[in-house]
Amino acid sequence: MKLLVTGGSGFIGTNFVLQEIAKDKNMVINLDKLTYAGNPDNLLSIENHPNYTFINGDISDNNLLNTIFFEYEPDAIIHFAAESHVDRSIDGPMDFIQTNIVGTANLLESAMSYWKGSEKASFKFLHVSTDEVYGSLNDSGFFTEKTSYDPSSPYSASKASSDHLVRAWHKTYGLPTLITNCSNNYGPFQFPEKLIPLMIANCLDEKPLPVYGKGLNIRDWLFVSDHCDAIVNVLNKGIIGETYNIGGNNEIKNIDIVNQICSTLDNIKPRSNGKSYSKLISYVEDRPGHDFRYAIDASKIKNNLGWEPKENFETGINKTINWYLKNESWWRKIQEVKYNQSRLGVDVRGKNH
Ligand code: NAD
Ligand code: TYD
Repeated sequence: MKLLVTGGSGFIGTNFVLQEIAKDKNMVINLDKLTYAGNPDNLLSIENHPNYTFINGDISDNNLLNTIFFEYEPDAIIHFAAESHVDRSIDGPMDFIQTNIVGTANLLESAMSYWKGSEKASFKFLHVSTDEVYGSLNDSGFFTEKTSYDPSSPYSASKASSDHLVRAWHKTYGLPTLITNCSNNYGPFQFPEKLIPLMIANCLDEKPLPVYGKGLNIRDWLFVSDHCDAIVNVLNKGIIGETYNIGGNNEIKNIDIVNQICSTLDNIKPRSNGKSYSKLISYVEDRPGHDFRYAIDASKIKNNLGWEPKENFETGINKTINWYLKNESWWRKIQEVKYNQSRLGVDVRGKNH
């Protein structure tokens, strides 16, 4: 298969592209704008691989998309490209509207003309989305594929819009689409603005570990390679027009994650002053509109497609911490050039309630 991957130079896209190229079966064309989150270093190891092509460009560029479809004739699109960080969406929502909504609509339109005009009866458009579209849960219950959308942040609202657009293009025009809604990912190559890599980097820098509010918010964590496997399953075996929730059954409070990172590092890289990294924990002002709990019911993908995560949180977090220790130059370069782990997403518009 020829796969057109959008956003392949970001966190999940990188893991997906590396996994696919390692299988030596499919060709991958990676279309990425290389925003602050897209990192050309990630895919240097495969840049000359015969099955891999990189195109630096924007999903909002219609002419470019039409040229790519004409030239490469992909069998499927895996659409990762997005603005992905909730805190940045609080600071500046318009980039999220442009890429996540307008960009996705643009990609759907180009995919439509290609699909209508091509001979590819088996063409598929797989849209990668998030469980955050469902909003926030209290102490009980799970998100199923039937849960109503109720997004809270500009990020999740923009992803919800893009999901609706993808469904509309299927229902109205018959475009063969699939949607996946996944819980929080962690693992190698995650930009150090997100909770887990930020805490690891701050520990190693002996900087305060900023825990929002009381640290009691809950996320359902999935190791990134399990997400990538799930996407391949949905692509190969999913029913066109359907949605699949993906999650790891790993509900953890933020403060417990931070403490686990601290105690793992206490063992493998103790601080020179002999104190625990947990002494660096600092409770800070909460995120505006902070969703309390996310939890995925992944029984549909398990029962219908036979997918289950391979990693549990213990194995996944150890692999992740070791990756950031071994690849310090990767995140140091980001720190120097792009982002120094400063606080994002405090409501500076003065309308916080
Ligand atoms: P990321 O921010 O690490 O990477 C996004 C990539 O998209 C970057 O390489 C960036 O350069 C590229 N991009 C942004 N705007 C673009 C544009 N206009 N045209 C082309 N490329 C553009 O994001 P991620 O964490 O890898 O997430 C990938 C996808 O998975 C997103 O759609 C996100 O909503 C979804 N998702 C993420 C998580 C998570 O925990 N990270 C969970 C569920 C779903
Ligand atoms: P994040 O990694 O930004 O993912 P998302 O908001 O998409 O779930 O945040 C995960 C959780 O960690 C979320 O409840 C906010 C919290 N958090 C902190 O407490 N401190 C931080 O510095 C960050 C970035 C997040």
